[in-house]
Amino acid sequence: MLPNLPPPDLHQAIRALLLAARAATQGKMGVSFHVGSQCMRPTAYQAAMAQASRAIVRAGVMVDIVDVGGGFPSVYPGMVPPDMSDYVDSIQRGFADMMVHEETELWCEPGRALVAEAQSILTKVELRKNDALYLNDGSYGNLFDAAHVKWPFPVKLYRGEGEGAHEVEGPLKPFRFYGPTCDSMDHMPGPFWLPEDIREGDYIEIGMLGAYGVAMTTRFNGYGDAETVVVGVRAGRSHHPPATGKPGGRTQGRPSVASQGPGRQEPPQAVKPTHCSVTSAAGRSVPVALYQWTGVTL
Ligand SMILES: Cc1ncc(COP(=O)(O)O)c(C=O)c1O
Repeated sequence: MLPNLPPPDLHQAIRALLLAARAATQGKMGVSFHVGSQCMRPTAYQAAMAQASRAIVRAGVMVDIVDVGGGFPSVYPGMVPPDMSDYVDSIQRGFADMMVHEETELWCEPGRALVAEAQSILTKVELRKNDALYLNDGSYGNLFDAAHVKWPFPVKLYRGEGEGAHEVEGPLKPFRFYGPTCDSMDHMPGPFWLPEDIREGDYIEIGMLGAYGVAMTTRFNGYGDAETVVVGVRAGRSHHPPATGKPGGRTQGRPSVASQGPGRQEPPQAVKPTHCSVTSAAGRSVPVALYQWTGVTL
């Protein structure tokens, strides 16, 4: 812990600490930061690197690694980030301006951008009251981001069990979700656009939950049991809203404009996945959809 000193002495203490760390790390000392997850502003990296560079100069040490952390975004409905090449440009510019030596390595630690599209959650409708759907999953389960940052994840409706399970389509209407815990925070406002005849016993597939989905689950109030099914990868399908906004369109790479505001009241136009029924590790037949990660080329 750093002592409580006035700024000049504190800087001296930090410098001594960094020098000691440098001696101890034998050529592998670095700086790292995280600009914040789902960062929609590529220049945030350059700004953070400028700050890190100033800290390096103030400390009077050389670093061997600059680690720009995670934060790279995925494409959720209503949130279409700038092109990934803008992020790379910003990082390259930031690195060129940093006070580092020639051998300094540039690292990054993408999380969400790599895995968000890799997983869907299937949750059961336990109760319907008008536009409120009560589910067996919620903010203490896989739906942390849907509750706490109110993201309207893409959804699909399935009906039936086993071989009889099938996707249900039809006129859509906005719904909100509630989880199973009776806690006031167990509320996911959406809106989630689903067929208007959705009913108890139906399954909702919530897509784009490969990042901060299952990793955020708790065992609060004894809830949180889930079965995991690995279904492999099929080419050419994505939950991403098409760049054109036209129904039925397919996302071609990454759209470059933020065309949909968070407050809009139209259904996100999800691209149709390939769906099938598979047997989970617990022996239950579960309807699943197959998606491919298409969003990001790093
Ligand atoms: C140290 C560190 N690096 C990288 C990441 C990945 O961040 P993101 O998913 O925003 O890319 C995290 C996320 O918690 C983190 O804690």
